[in-house]
Amino acid sequence: MAAFHHILGAFFQALIIAEVILGQSDREVLRELKSFLQAQNPINRGAYDTWSEAEVSPCRLQGVGCDAAGRVSYLDLSSSSIAGPSFGNFSRLNRLTHLDLSANSITGQLHPDLKHCRGLQYLNLSSNLIGGALDVSTLTNLRILDLSQNRFQGDIRTNFPSICRNLSVIAVSSNNLTGRISGLFSGCSKLSDVDLSWNQFTGKAVWKGVERLTRFTATANNLTGVIPSSTFPKGCKLQSLDISSNQLSGSFPNSIANCTSLKTLSLWNNSFGGSIPPGIGSIAGLEELGLSSNQFHHKIPLELMNCTNLKNLEISRNTFGGEVQQVLGKITSLKSLVLQGNNYSGGIVSSGILQLPNLIYLDLSFNKFSGKLPNEIASMTSIESLVLANNNFSGKIPPSYGRLLRLQALDLSYNNLSGEIPPEIGNLASLLLLMLAGNQLSGEIPREIGNCTSLLWLNLVGNQISGKIPPEMTNMGRNPGPTFAKNRRNPSLIKSATSKCFAVYRWVPASYPEFDFVESMMMSQKNCLTMWNRLLMGYDILPVSSPLRTALGYVQLSGNLLSGEIPSTISAMKNISLLLLDGNRLSGHLPSEISSMQLVALNLSNNSFSGQIPFTVGHLNSLESLDLSWNNFSGALPSSLGELSKLSTLNVSYNPLLSGEVPNTGQLSTFNEQSFLGDPLLSFHSPAAPSPHSNDNQPSTYGTEKHPTNEEITVLVVTFLVCFSATFVIRELQSFVYLYHVALRKITNFRNL
Ligand SMILES: *[C@@H]1O[C@H](CO)[C@@H](O)[C@H](O)[C@H]1NC(C)=O
Ligand SMILES: *[C@@H]1O[C@H](CO)[C@@H](O)[C@H](O)[C@H]1NC(C)=O
Ligand SMILES: *[C@@H]1O[C@H](CO)[C@@H](O)[C@H](O)[C@H]1NC(C)=O
Ligand SMILES: *[C@@H]1O[C@H](CO)[C@@H](O)[C@H](O)[C@H]1NC(C)=O
Ligand SMILES: *[C@@H]1O[C@H](CO)[C@@H](O)[C@H](O)[C@H]1NC(C)=O
Ligand SMILES: *[C@@H]1O[C@H](CO)[C@@H](O)[C@H](O)[C@H]1NC(C)=O
Ligand SMILES: *[C@@H]1O[C@H](CO)[C@@H](O)[C@H](O)[C@H]1NC(C)=O
Ligand SMILES: *[C@@H]1O[C@H](CO)[C@@H](O)[C@H](O)[C@H]1NC(C)=O
Ligand SMILES: *[C@@H]1O[C@H](CO)[C@@H](O)[C@H](O)[C@H]1NC(C)=O
Ligand SMILES: *[C@@H]1O[C@H](CO)[C@@H](O)[C@H](O)[C@H]1NC(C)=O
Ligand SMILES: *[C@@H]1O[C@H](CO)[C@@H](O)[C@H](O)[C@H]1NC(C)=O
Ligand SMILES: *[C@@H]1O[C@H](CO)[C@@H](O)[C@H](O)[C@H]1NC(C)=O
Repeated sequence: MAAFHHILGAFFQALIIAEVILGQSDREVLRELKSFLQAQNPINRGAYDTWSEAEVSPCRLQGVGCDAAGRVSYLDLSSSSIAGPSFGNFSRLNRLTHLDLSANSITGQLHPDLKHCRGLQYLNLSSNLIGGALDVSTLTNLRILDLSQNRFQGDIRTNFPSICRNLSVIAVSSNNLTGRISGLFSGCSKLSDVDLSWNQFTGKAVWKGVERLTRFTATANNLTGVIPSSTFPKGCKLQSLDISSNQLSGSFPNSIANCTSLKTLSLWNNSFGGSIPPGIGSIAGLEELGLSSNQFHHKIPLELMNCTNLKNLEISRNTFGGEVQQVLGKITSLKSLVLQGNNYSGGIVSSGILQLPNLIYLDLSFNKFSGKLPNEIASMTSIESLVLANNNFSGKIPPSYGRLLRLQALDLSYNNLSGEIPPEIGNLASLLLLMLAGNQLSGEIPREIGNCTSLLWLNLVGNQISGKIPPEMTNMGRNPGPTFAKNRRNPSLIKSATSKCFAVYRWVPASYPEFDFVESMMMSQKNCLTMWNRLLMGYDILPVSSPLRTALGYVQLSGNLLSGEIPSTISAMKNISLLLLDGNRLSGHLPSEISSMQLVALNLSNNSFSGQIPFTVGHLNSLESLDLSWNNFSGALPSSLGELSKLSTLNVSYNPLLSGEVPNTGQLSTFNEQSFLGDPLLSFHSPAAPSPHSNDNQPSTYGTEKHPTNEEITVLVVTFLVCFSATFVIRELQSFVYLYHVALRKITNFRNL
């Protein structure tokens, strides 16, 4: 018996020694991994850089976790500034179950070695630059697979059904994958969460079995066809279904009523027709319903009023005309209602939508509404964003709108409004955005507008506003902090539905070339919304390295009849980055105080400004675009302009009294004659330096390239938001992953004891 014990003891000892040796081998792999990553990334490095050779157990290295036997089972190298090709020896960590390489810049194809990591249950390669064909078919233990935001291409079907067995979550959004998805997941019995968005998948959107998932997202693919009623049988578990931006058609099946757990249903941007399925009304928990950009029948089923939790409803861009449907006024839980881009012509008051007690966002823009602006709006005490743009409203802006004390965005632009801007506007202390462009407004800018301490985005372009710019106005937007703070405390209030971006697009002066780069990022609706929310909360919308921070406000007064001088108090407008006063009758000297602003773009063209261009203009060190053309400026160009290192657009043309030599210092040396047309008294330096007259083949001459017209000067700020939002989201998730990892390490350490 003792002998037996002895043998058994020796056996276990051998096992332990084997484990130790294997553990040594894990250490060895991690050592190789570290030096591989260090060699690939000589400058920026992640946490792996701190991995110490002296550490006895690899389990205590940052980002590493072990199983009960002390073998490495968990490796998190997310957001570790890894660039270049993938490490090729992960498979030697043969107990690895969790591998996270997300949010790096790993390039090349999926490394063949990964196919041998057969024990992987969690693989996250999202947000890298990995391309080529996707073959993970050998990873049959996967439970969670995230490959989103890469460059994978080709047919995804080669991986199915082999990876199905334990697969619960699959996310492959934003790649270039193809393949018919019909039936693809039939064998994946444990699947619950699928995100296929932003690829080129084809086939039918949904297959028998989709009802077993909790979440299915396939936005922006090439899915076609009609969805059969049998898709949503009894017991449907879906909580979120997003098949927007495909080419689906036919009626949407009423059997959706069987998906009683549904919270989000997004069908927008397809070709669904017929009536909106009344069955939706029996989904009591539904919170978001996106039906925009389809061809649904005008009659909205009364049953919808039984969706007592419906917060966001979007039915823009259907072919609805005539009166706003009565049922909409009965969905009292609504916080956001977007009817934009239909042909509605009446029924704003009679439908009851103005009495919805919880409404904070109402968008009726791009319809055929006419007549006076309804006075009843003044009683909408909960409203925060009111968008009535691009209709044919006429008459005056009701002074009673000054009672909408919660209002943060008021967009009445491109209507036929006349009369003066009511001074009551000054009561709106929470107002962040005021768009009145493209009307027939006249009279003076009320001085009370200076009481709008949150107002950062003002656009009055293309009216007949006259008189002086009131000095009090320069107080606007001086302290948006309280409004931002309120929105930060209450972020759920501004969680938005699907296509608010249409309005956001117009609010951003995206035509400014400085901000081009963001345009592509606006493509994704998700980014656009995050951006808008960030905007309302006053978060930074550009990377920290940029001098343009939070505010990025604008004052756009182009194309009016304003006269007199720019008040010297303009220096108070510290939060305004874009000042567009072109096409008015402004005169006098440009006050030197303007240099206290933090301007990115200044346009004073087509006015009657005179005198010298103040030397201090050269202190506007964020300035990227300066247009002083068509004025009467005189004297020499200040040499300080050369210090504007960011200046990419300069236009001082048609100021015939400008004289002297154009300094060829700094940035000034980069502009050609296009910037100085019609200035006969200006002379240029001798050819020693590149002469502005002889540099036709110089690549970077932006000169008068961009001269914003009234049309162009529409909507800037939000464009930025997008760019930052992506980083923001990643950061949030990173911290989540980090916490998860910390927790896991604690467990591991505990086991090691
Ligand atoms: C992987 O391990 C092999 C030895 O098994 C070694 O020759 C090779 O250099 C390693 N590759 C990398 C990328 O470290
Ligand atoms: C995968 O599924 C099989 C069979 O359903 C099961 O035995 C196994 O434990 C699962 N593996 C994991 C890692 O969940
Ligand atoms: C996607 O794939 C198509 C054809 O396979 C190719 O033309 C296109 O450039 C790819 N797009 C991206 C973003 O990789
Ligand atoms: C998807 O649709 C777009 C346009 O709708 C088309 O250009 C593209 O070729 C289609 N891709 C596939 C794989 O069918
Ligand atoms: C609508 O979907 C199509 C693809 O079906 C896409 O090309 C288009 O950009 C989408 N529209 C919007 C506004 O997202
Ligand atoms: C729910 O699904 C069953 C089949 O499971 C079907 O007979 C029924 O019509 C569906 N309900 C609705 C409202 O369509
Ligand atoms: C709403 O639900 C109630 C009870 O659930 C029902 O009696 C009523 O008929 C429903 N209304 C509509 C319009 O479907
Ligand atoms: C609105 O009506 C006009 C004709 O009156 C039509 O041409 C246009 O397509 C309609 N627009 C929408 C969005 O229904
Ligand atoms: C706008 O409304 C006015 C009446 O208020 C009408 O005369 C005019 O034709 C309408 N314009 C359009 C484009 O519908
Ligand atoms: C603006 O209103 C006037 C008078 O109501 C009308 O004559 C004119 O046609 C309207 N303009 C537009 C663009 O509808
Ligand atoms: C509002 O503005 C007017 C005119 O500028 C000023 O006299 C008044 O004191 C302001 N009211 C408040 C409450 O700030
Ligand atoms: C993958 O990693 C990204 C970025 O680190 C994270 O946002 C995402 O939630 C992860 N995916 C899963 C399914 O855990």
